[in-house]
Amino acid sequence: MDFASLRDSIACMESMTYMNAGWAGPSPSQVVERMRDAGERESAGGPAGPEGRAFAAAVEEEARTEAAGLYNVDPADVLITHGTSEGVAIALFGLDWQPGDVLLTTDLEHPGIDSPVAVLEERGVEIRRASIPPDASADACIEAFRSGLDSRVKVAALSHIMFTTGLRVPAEEIVAAAHEVDALVLLDGAQTGGHIAMDFAAMGVDFYATSGQKWLMGPTGSGAFYVRPDRRELLKPLLRLSGTGFRSGLAQYSLASQGVAERAGYAEAVRINRELGPERVEEHTHRLASALRAELSGIGGVSITGPADGPTACAITVISVEGWEAPAFVEALWETHRIVARHVAHPPGVRICTAAFNNESDVERAVAAIAELAGR
Ligand SMILES: Cc1ncc(COP(=O)(O)O)c(C=O)c1O
Repeated sequence: MDFASLRDSIACMESMTYMNAGWAGPSPSQVVERMRDAGERESAGGPAGPEGRAFAAAVEEEARTEAAGLYNVDPADVLITHGTSEGVAIALFGLDWQPGDVLLTTDLEHPGIDSPVAVLEERGVEIRRASIPPDASADACIEAFRSGLDSRVKVAALSHIMFTTGLRVPAEEIVAAAHEVDALVLLDGAQTGGHIAMDFAAMGVDFYATSGQKWLMGPTGSGAFYVRPDRRELLKPLLRLSGTGFRSGLAQYSLASQGVAERAGYAEAVRINRELGPERVEEHTHRLASALRAELSGIGGVSITGPADGPTACAITVISVEGWEAPAFVEALWETHRIVARHVAHPPGVRICTAAFNNESDVERAVAAIAELAGR
């Protein structure tokens, strides 16, 4: 599989310029085919009969093994989930919060973190929010993060890549800083899996939640959650008493049953990413984003909200355009040029993602459309 054949296998790229993998990536035909095939085999095998159950177990094992291979951890430490929010909930609500404990987060988070944090706040957990500039340097990220850290912080929960600005925080340094005061780290990786190359073991992270439907181009309702093996005992399963029920290992933390088709599609999506090579995907997506930002910075009235380059930049580009509200600009991109982007708030902007299936012609089309609309 190469980038050109990946693109050719994605149906919507024939009729539009899709630049919104940060919300949901369009699945390649191989993923769609795997899901269809899994559904048929499940039905033919009898879903809860011996053959159907054996098939579902094999697919689940395959999905965990693929995810573990992608993130360099043991499959036993990976739970296949319905997405990032599920992993975040398992971690944040599964910990034993005591009076005086503090949760440290940031002011750039998605509801995937903000919502459970609000629930914990209502239950009496003290919340601190580190204020991170949208286009912060790596040093500024660490400094802002450190300003909220002390020995009362039980967990730091934050995005590895911020969905509103594309800011990539220096994960290893953040984990090391938190561990210095014995705080745990939960990273929200909704915007990372399938976008940047990662090694959870080297990162030393305690909990890491990811999505399958975004940059990986897997099905909606798929993802993976990693728990560092020596941290598992800190988490209580939310829906059952530990050690009871018919599930063992990390499967006891699962919040709901999942279809075999989603798991098969997820496994295939990860397999494709590994075949392309996570480092090559990172290089491809970031090169397109750098080209996009270089062109956009020369257009009057267009400014880049997030990091323009360097280690905190990624393949998410966020712009604001003089004279336009972001939602209207996103609508105009679609109405006039069939370009799919999204608007973000806090800070407001138009988000454009350059994913593995995008190419230089998408960048050129986006630049031409933005220049035309900015000049109106
Ligand atoms: C940073 C961030 N966290 C969490 C989520 C939610 O992800 P999921 O739908 O997989 O739970 C998103 C989705 O856009 C996101 O961007």
